[in-house]
Amino acid sequence: MGLIGLGRHGARYAKHLLDGVSGCRLVAVSRQNAAAGEQFAKDHGLAFSADWRDLLRRSDVQAVLVVTPPSLNREICLAAAKAGKALLIEKPLACSTAEAAEMVAAARAAGVPLMTAQTLRFTPVLRRLRERLDAIGPVEFFSLCMRAERPPHAWLDQKDKAGGGVVLEIGIHLFDLLRYLTGREAVEVRAETARRHTTQVEDLAHLRFTLASGASCFVELSRVSGGRLCRAEAIGQKGQWLADVGTSTLTRIEGWQVAEVESVPDRPTIEPVLEAFARSLMDKTPMPVSGEDGLRAVAMAEAAYRSAALGKPVEIG
Ligand SMILES: NC(=O)c1ccc[n+]([C@@H]2O[C@H](COP(=O)([O-])OP(=O)(O)OC[C@H]3O[C@@H](n4cnc5c(N)ncnc54)[C@H](OP(=O)(O)O)[C@@H]3O)[C@@H](O)[C@H]2O)c1
Repeated sequence: MGLIGLGRHGARYAKHLLDGVSGCRLVAVSRQNAAAGEQFAKDHGLAFSADWRDLLRRSDVQAVLVVTPPSLNREICLAAAKAGKALLIEKPLACSTAEAAEMVAAARAAGVPLMTAQTLRFTPVLRRLRERLDAIGPVEFFSLCMRAERPPHAWLDQKDKAGGGVVLEIGIHLFDLLRYLTGREAVEVRAETARRHTTQVEDLAHLRFTLASGASCFVELSRVSGGRLCRAEAIGQKGQWLADVGTSTLTRIEGWQVAEVESVPDRPTIEPVLEAFARSLMDKTPMPVSGEDGLRAVAMAEAAYRSAALGKPVEIG
């Protein structure tokens, strides 16, 4: 595998790969900072390419992991597809639906497997919530929330690099989660966004999705708080589930009672993401989170931006 991007998140990929992940071997890395990249490569017996295009030319690289600012994803994806390299691309798959669709089409035309790293799908407590949804009867609505501290990088407030603010950066996790939990598509969204501390992109958003079934999903996103919180609540006719990612607990409410609290053993998500990617490549089976999945989440984000700009609900294409 070749890894492009060795920043905050790319360094986590590198650490897991160097510690050993079943089916994976890291052979080459690329980042902008050549001195730091060369040193890292030397320390770990890897090849370093200052230009990611050189990494794509390597015959020992069969699959490419893309962990860069999302504005680079399209160009890397198209070049990697041309070079016949399988792709694991971090969320958001692209900055726009048009770009994401072009990437998916290019990978398909080249016969190259493409996985979108919607890592939240691999969070144990959310998987458990999905397994146990039926216990609360038909779900009337969902309430999803992700709050985080102010953006850790300057580029996250640059529209040309990030593509958008909290809607695209962290909302994309929850949009995909909604599809994962329900197995259904959202058909309409109403969104409001605000800038509290950022200058180019939103750092606060409230959204309401309507699913094809008529059920609703409320989504709250922000990067204004001290500390983090990520929660998924499913509100059903017979009870309610509250999944808290920070504490990895799943709580069931019935009447006024806490009917059940399950502590779900947690596991960082990058390792299972990499394992699933490698397994699909080796078994030649469909990717567990496809390029199309990444595209659909981007389409939900794009529709949310349109809704916020127009001040009314819009259909999701
Ligand atoms: N799934 C998750 O939970 C999760 C969590 C965090 C981030 N992410 C995603 O991961 C991606 C990266 O985020 P991050 O926080 O790691 O950002 P980051 O710390 O800024 O890292 C970006 C990396 O991309 C490299 N890069 C930029 N331009 C490049 C180029 N032209 N050629 C080669 N490398 C280049 C940078 O190199 P230098 O460092 O040398 O400048 C840096 O190593 C984003 O898409 C983000 O949404 C996902």
